[in-house]
Amino acid sequence: MASEPGFSHLIDSPDLGEVVVEPAALQARVAELGAEITADYADRAPLLIGVLKGAAMFMTDLARHVALPLELDFMAVSSYGNATRTSGVVRIVKDLDIDLTGRHVIIVEDIVDSGLTLSYLRRTLAARGPASLEVCALLVREGLQKTDEELRYVGFRIPPKFVVGYGLDFAEKYRNLPYVCVFEGDG
Ligand code: IMP
Ligand code: MG
Repeated sequence: MASEPGFSHLIDSPDLGEVVVEPAALQARVAELGAEITADYADRAPLLIGVLKGAAMFMTDLARHVALPLELDFMAVSSYGNATRTSGVVRIVKDLDIDLTGRHVIIVEDIVDSGLTLSYLRRTLAARGPASLEVCALLVREGLQKTDEELRYVGFRIPPKFVVGYGLDFAEKYRNLPYVCVFEGDG
């Protein structure tokens, strides 16, 4: 992994610390989640909703492991207030194109930290009349959730450190790392 050719320009950054999820583990788990969704939604075409931008990598990899006639849509949200801590007051920056009425919706998130963003999203999307609404989160930060969200699919539970890679950023950087690692720069 860390010696994977083509990524040394990113790996060499002093801001990047311990690898939390290796590329092979990441790909294996995403394949498992795709297989679970395939089994669970066998007779219902799911609609995957990716939350931009963090879930972009996860969403596109996950979708390729779901062997069903699914549909994809994306939305973008931004949270009001403090930049490093979610306030829970969320604004929709880009809304969905697809009508959720009667659809089997799966929200695809990069990481659940406080859970406040997800809680808002779930409430907002539930109000649009989907037939079912579940959540698939790549990462869940252990012990910090302020809400008791039901997470149907979880990739990995990780320690309470700020991480980057595989979609997750610090100041828009490091999203293209093929693994998840601790960010050790100045937050
Ligand atoms: P929550 O509302 O506190 O659960 O925050 C969730 C959102 O904050 C995620 O969807 C990410 O966009 C961002 N976030 C939380 N923790 C991290 C992290 O460790 N690295 C990068 N982004 C993060
Ligand atoms: Mg996010």
